[in-house]
Amino acid sequence: MKNYLIHDEWKIIEEGFHPENNRISESIFSLGNGRKGGRGNFEEKYSGSTLPGNYIAGVYYPDKTRVGWWKNGYPEYFAKVLNAANWIGINVSVDGEELDLAKMLIESFRRELNMQEGTLSRTFIASFKNGKKVKVTSIRFLSIVTPEIGAIQYSVEPLNFDGKIKLTPFVDFDVQNEDSNYDEKFWVGEYIENIGNEGYLTAHTKKTKFLACSGMKYNVQLDGKEHAVQIANNSREKYIESTFEIKAKQNQVVRLFKYGVNTSSEYFSKSKLAFEAKEILNNAFETGFDQLLKEHRAAWAVKWENSDIQIESDVAAQQGIRFNIFQLNQTYTGEDERLNVGPKGFTGEKYGGTTYWDTEAYCLPFFLATAPQKVSKNLLIYRYKHLQKAIENAEKLGFKNGAALYPMVTINGEECHNEWEITFEEIHRNGAIAYAIYDYIRFTGDKEYLAPYGFEVLLALSRFWSQRVNWSEHKNKYVLLGVTGPNEYENNVNNNFHTSNMAVWTLKYTLEAIQYLKESHKDLYYKLCAENGFNEEDETNKWDDIIANMYYAWDNERKIFLQQDGFLDKELLPASQINPAERPISQHWSWDRILRSPYIKQADVLQSLYWFEEKYDKEFIERHFDFYEPITVHESSLSSCVHTVLAAKIGRPEKAYEMYLRTARLDLDDYNSDTEDGLHITSMGGTWLAFVIGLGGMRVLKDQLHFDPILPKGWSAYSFKINFRGAHLKIKVSDNKVRISNLSDEKINLSVNDKSITLIGHSIEVI
Ligand code: BGC
Repeated sequence: MKNYLIHDEWKIIEEGFHPENNRISESIFSLGNGRKGGRGNFEEKYSGSTLPGNYIAGVYYPDKTRVGWWKNGYPEYFAKVLNAANWIGINVSVDGEELDLAKMLIESFRRELNMQEGTLSRTFIASFKNGKKVKVTSIRFLSIVTPEIGAIQYSVEPLNFDGKIKLTPFVDFDVQNEDSNYDEKFWVGEYIENIGNEGYLTAHTKKTKFLACSGMKYNVQLDGKEHAVQIANNSREKYIESTFEIKAKQNQVVRLFKYGVNTSSEYFSKSKLAFEAKEILNNAFETGFDQLLKEHRAAWAVKWENSDIQIESDVAAQQGIRFNIFQLNQTYTGEDERLNVGPKGFTGEKYGGTTYWDTEAYCLPFFLATAPQKVSKNLLIYRYKHLQKAIENAEKLGFKNGAALYPMVTINGEECHNEWEITFEEIHRNGAIAYAIYDYIRFTGDKEYLAPYGFEVLLALSRFWSQRVNWSEHKNKYVLLGVTGPNEYENNVNNNFHTSNMAVWTLKYTLEAIQYLKESHKDLYYKLCAENGFNEEDETNKWDDIIANMYYAWDNERKIFLQQDGFLDKELLPASQINPAERPISQHWSWDRILRSPYIKQADVLQSLYWFEEKYDKEFIERHFDFYEPITVHESSLSSCVHTVLAAKIGRPEKAYEMYLRTARLDLDDYNSDTEDGLHITSMGGTWLAFVIGLGGMRVLKDQLHFDPILPKGWSAYSFKINFRGAHLKIKVSDNKVRISNLSDEKINLSVNDKSITLIGHSIEVI
């Protein structure tokens, strides 16, 4: 765990240069706008440890799978969102000496992410070996108004000398993914233009043939006045630069405004890509830095208006929750149904920018409650559009009749992960995709989503489960063999409770959906049956049988569901007995030892209890929590959010708070020693749900919102905002009081601490 960032309500601040933490900071200070993003790398050259990273949404490369022994069914490739052109680069030299923070004496370094405004800034004083000192300040942003645009204001001031400041803004497409399986470069350069203060490069990806164009245009000021410079331009394959030198007197500020553009064939026709890039870049250039920034800030203000959470009297917690919200909003805007939320978003290479069950299980609630309905609907449509590929994916494994197995990892609907156990066995993800449909409809009331989108997906999922189970003569029950539950620290287990539970629940929910469609959309329903070759009676008879006769491992002594058949054979020692120096165990123990241990990576049985809590009473949940929580090591970032919700539910506010803090500051404090790989973006959705569902006690029951909040010790108050079916609500919780403001015109009935209230438009109720 690290603690080098300054606590502040709206900013993330690194004061003093921490080269040993630079990769962590690069992740934390990442910027994104839903369409592209990049790590908080320095603009100027840095020869210390760094992971340069700029990523374009949806542009990927299928990197050929690397395994020891090939097995039938292995995915051919692991999809990677590519490291794309470095557009931020500005090399600096002063009287012939290169500015490189790894080689200089650095004073008053400050790096700051302003979450309210969506900007990243830096200021430092650096001394060269010859004693010359310069002050550098920079501020940059990726516009959320014009997502192709990014802009940088970069200033150099000689502090104790008159000298020549040479600046070289560049765009470099000659970049590589650190995690490339075969050390390959994925971009092939095409077009180059580099004239005056403006330049463009296009490159296409090998195999996938995406085309991207990146360009720059700049202007220079000396002491706040436009300054004409003598330019020398250079280019080579996949690289352009423009160099000029300015004579500056002591304390004169040389300021470069660099505008970057990025267009891709995902949004523009290939033949016009460079042309469009030029148009957009020139418009931005004409608009100017200050105006672009003003519009960008205003757009962020709207985002915050809908999604901010305020915590009084706990700055660390306040910073934590805003950081999570900020990063989620930077990653996904919901405008494009082809995009999704990658576990690392635009902040690193790990997980390849692909989609996991994380989106449905952990991110959906945030977008449901804080963004327009189309945003969460697009997350569902993403999977609907991948249905055919999910059916093909299941066919490859021997399933038939339209059964679908969604990939554990995907970018285009195909499975693309190269770990056997995870890819094939974590089939519980199919349950999460069904649950997301339920969650969306429960929250929005949009039952029409079932016809046709939701129904077709549910049908294909149910067909999968009905073929994936088998009848055990021995148990006289249906069983689910050879699976991996959410707890990846056990593989190929039998009857993982969560997986079996999701299978049965999906069958039941599909039956309910069928009932609804028969009642409300009869013609469409029968049309869909015909199109999907669905013989309701034949197929649902088996579903009913599975629902009635599914086997769940159960411990009669403890009266708990077991995570899997063999769980009690393990030596059930609490995680508190693990030598702290050996944690996280994933980084210290052999895989063999982990698999045999009782330690649980993330909520597994508890995941099901969280999703279906209304089925169980408090004592039942408590028994499971008390059994599983002490052996859970939370080595997946997706664990503590579920534990927060359940701890709050069973009346353990301190535990809920402990778990909440762990998820909220996971990356800021580098809890799992892995923030350098990138941020845990999807677990940030988990943080939000830990807050609002856990601490805020929000539930939607029978079409109505309920709140049963707790106030953690040390907080005097907190508040959050929710969009619910046209109403916009602010819920403020303070000592013994809950204050609900209806900020919209809509009338809404809700329940607070079991008390029913009706709020007409623009009114406040205190309970
Ligand atoms: C977790 C999975 C998750 C994946 C991507 C893994 O560490 O165990 O549940 O889907 O990370 O976030």
